[in-house]
Amino acid sequence: MYRIWLESPVDMDGWRAAARRLALAGVAPEMVGWAVEGEQDALFDDDVLPPMPDGDAAFSVPRRFVELAQTAICHADPERFSLLYALLLRLREERGLLEVAVDPLVARVEALAKAVRRDIHKMHAFVRFRAVATDEGEHFIAWFEPEHHIVEAAAPFFQRRFAAMRWSILTPERCAHWDGGTLRFTGGVPKSAAPTEDALEELWRSYYAAIFNPARLKVAAMQSEMPRKYWKNLPEASSIGLLVRDAERRAQAMVAAVPPAPNPQPQRQGATAMATGEPGTPLEELRQQAAGCRECPLWAPATQTVFGEGPEDARVVFVGEQPGDSEDLKGRPFVGPAGQLLDRALDEAGIDRHKVYVTNAVKHFKFEPRGKRRIHQKPNAGEIRACRQWLSRELATVQPTLVVALGATAVSSLVGKTTSLSSVRGKVMKTDGDTDMVATVHPSYLLRVPDEAARAAEYQRFVADLRHIGELDPSVRAA
Ligand code: URA
Repeated sequence: MYRIWLESPVDMDGWRAAARRLALAGVAPEMVGWAVEGEQDALFDDDVLPPMPDGDAAFSVPRRFVELAQTAICHADPERFSLLYALLLRLREERGLLEVAVDPLVARVEALAKAVRRDIHKMHAFVRFRAVATDEGEHFIAWFEPEHHIVEAAAPFFQRRFAAMRWSILTPERCAHWDGGTLRFTGGVPKSAAPTEDALEELWRSYYAAIFNPARLKVAAMQSEMPRKYWKNLPEASSIGLLVRDAERRAQAMVAAVPPAPNPQPQRQGATAMATGEPGTPLEELRQQAAGCRECPLWAPATQTVFGEGPEDARVVFVGEQPGDSEDLKGRPFVGPAGQLLDRALDEAGIDRHKVYVTNAVKHFKFEPRGKRRIHQKPNAGEIRACRQWLSRELATVQPTLVVALGATAVSSLVGKTTSLSSVRGKVMKTDGDTDMVATVHPSYLLRVPDEAARAAEYQRFVADLRHIGELDPSVRAA
């Protein structure tokens, strides 16, 4: 039995180094006991790790596994390290294993990652700061009790959102602190360390009561988005019971007071503005919901819904038109010829694709069958509109500071009306949800320019547009 001590509950580097060494030596998962320093007593004998085998010791795993492991390792389940190691071993033999969603091991690790993403989402949505006066001015302090080890993963969101404030988020296991320049982490504290009441809370409570719309009350939906267990740390929660009890009376009063409606406008599907504000549903849940979308006829001949991918807290979102043939088959955006060109241009512009979220205005491949080939067809206005809800919800969850529209379809979807690319290319505009937006050409346009010299010049212009994006938001630059 090999005992592996990890430095912290989320010690990915330690896990990775040990797992690689054990895998190369062919050690079976049941022969390894994983423990976190300071968490468990030694339950097993101290064996020396097997020596590194001679020869080429490197092996690669799909990037998707690395991303999955980085998330799943934050779960509170003590078995996570062992499950990840078992999955790593199997991936060496079965490269496509992660695509087999029904495989029990894959499903179990995916479930861990999903629970972690949900916990991070809840932390983003339900942390409430209280102002505390200090010698250096106001310091904002929040108390939160995550279910998993997510403080490090969740903190960058607050760093970006509250960059100009000094704040601390205290939790029983780990605390995050931002002083306007550096993000630091310290050990956990008891709840008594967090301040309780202050004037801000009173303000927030009255604000919540003011924005609460009794006519739109859906108690079940409200509890599923804001589960009761989070209420204890939310100042507005103490008002909820009263507001809910009073809702029916207030709704009737509102109905009685409403003046006769003007000519009703037909409600157009997906005509809502690009959302901003509170974070939305976690991406994984949105992805699952979108998988069953039947809002327009494009779902029927397509293989699958191709949802966006990238970090849930990316600051920059790239929006293309619709998946192509390869994307439709693989279920991932921008992996075919246009995607490869995009990757190359991003590389030249010094942007790391893994730091941005990449998605499309339309999530199904629209094509015309011609013999064995499927020829790309442009989505029409109705199809773009029908799909807008998904793009809008992705943006509400990711909350980027900048959206990059690749081509006219993306621009039209983002601004909510048909817009030519030439009228907006290169300018910093706003989406109709008020997020900064920059437009450039779609990479597949570059593949279609017939003249070689013109194609090279257009490509350089595209790279220059992408460089501009790296200047507008340096967080996406490659390290
Ligand atoms: N073109 C797009 O707009 N999106 C893709 O994902 C691929 C090609």
